[in-house]
Amino acid sequence: MSEPSDRIGVLFVCLGNICRSPLAEGLFIHLARDRGVLDRFEVDSCGTGGWHVGKQADPRSIDVARRHGVELPSRARQVDAATDWRFDHVLAMDRSNRGDLLALGAPRERVSLMRAWDATLDGEHDVPDPYYGGADGFDEVYGMLERACAGLLDALVE
Ligand code: 4NP
Repeated sequence: MSEPSDRIGVLFVCLGNICRSPLAEGLFIHLARDRGVLDRFEVDSCGTGGWHVGKQADPRSIDVARRHGVELPSRARQVDAATDWRFDHVLAMDRSNRGDLLALGAPRERVSLMRAWDATLDGEHDVPDPYYGGADGFDEVYGMLERACAGLLDALVE
């Protein structure tokens, strides 16, 4: 990750930063690269919790991503209230993550729910935490994140 720039900052946030937000980060990078616009963005992910700091994404996230040709570059880190609010868009995976971000002082206008960018949905929807479930949950989460990342890119790239 580089220093602040004129690029659009996009930060994906979940609880552990090993399942959902690394997948969102990898997918967004993949889709932006496909569209030839990756250089317009600064993309990162983090977790509200610190249990997995320094770890690669969960093997089940890495596996579902690989099956779709997506690599996950992320190493887990915890959100940093001193520096992370410089991101233009802070995407919370669920309402609990969003509440935690706002409690930490994230600017409300920069924070949105990830699935709010899915053009096929109305209302508020969480990306469910797949950590304690089976591989099916990761497939389901992948589909949710793919639709949301595509909608987010549509909105950010004119
Ligand atoms: P994530 O999933 O928030 O999508 O990365 C989780 C990973 C680990 C834990 C909880 C959720 N945990 O409690 O260790």
